[in-house]
Amino acid sequence: MHYLLTGATSGIGKAFLDLQLTQASNASASAPIFTVIARNAAKLSELATHCQPYSCHGINLDLAHPELIAPTVTEALKDLPPVDRLVYCAGITRIEAVTKLTYPKNLEMMSICYFSLVELMRVLVALKPESHLLKVAVVSAMAATTGAAYTVSYSAAKKALETLVRFGAQELLTQNVFINALAPAYVDTPMLKFNRLIDRNFAQNVTQVQPLGLISPQTAAQELAELLESTSCTGTIRYLNGGMRY
Ligand SMILES: NC(=O)c1ccc[n+]([C@@H]2O[C@H](COP(=O)([O-])OP(=O)(O)OC[C@H]3O[C@@H](n4cnc5c(N)ncnc54)[C@H](OP(=O)(O)O)[C@@H]3O)[C@@H](O)[C@H]2O)c1
Repeated sequence: MHYLLTGATSGIGKAFLDLQLTQASNASASAPIFTVIARNAAKLSELATHCQPYSCHGINLDLAHPELIAPTVTEALKDLPPVDRLVYCAGITRIEAVTKLTYPKNLEMMSICYFSLVELMRVLVALKPESHLLKVAVVSAMAATTGAAYTVSYSAAKKALETLVRFGAQELLTQNVFINALAPAYVDTPMLKFNRLIDRNFAQNVTQVQPLGLISPQTAAQELAELLESTSCTGTIRYLNGGMRY
């Protein structure tokens, strides 16, 4: 199984990678191959060591620059087997007033959450034999649906991603591609560092909006893995809501 991963250096993406490594070490299945896209070369080389004895190919790429994806990823994948699974976890957060949201800031958010995913999908479909099954799981966010002040840029970009999933799925199915999204509520990862900074008791106080408390990255990764392996749904958004109302 050849996995192409983004966001695997941290949080949910790292937990997903660890889940696959654990399953591979337990199972008699053939050894997985990992290709990881990350913007930090040092973290990529740490991941390659972390994945041993399985092969881990690094692609050093900043997803804020979607124009680099087609040439870089095509070159990197040309001698590898076709990708079987794409797991797109990369994301950034931005808490900012609408009146402070400049075009470059919106562009960065849209590029990481949406434009780069579209570019990747285009490249992967072009590279794979038509009959080859490609399954894709992407990470959206409950915030895109529940909404909140100061999160317009993030929520707009995640809604663009969800639109690709929901409306692209029928087109992609004709090319043997499944695509689904996981939309979690608050997950206990480094992404929440700003929330913790403004509220030292964030983990406790979050239960006011998310009664089941912070979700662990391992739980989110497990849900992502189940969604990825579904043989009966495509074009869906699964809400991992932690009890949050939506
Ligand atoms: N945590 C939550 O409460 C929560 C809730 C709902 C949805 N999500 C979504 O879950 C996904 C995973 O987030 P997380 O919580 O696991 O956060 P995280 O620990 O901060 O991980 C974010 C990942 O995205 C990568 N990334 C960010 N910008 C990138 C860029 N320009 N190019 C390449 N990679 C980039 C980071 O790489 P570096 O190591 O280089 O920074 C890191 O691997 C995100 O899409 C996020 O929006 C999170």
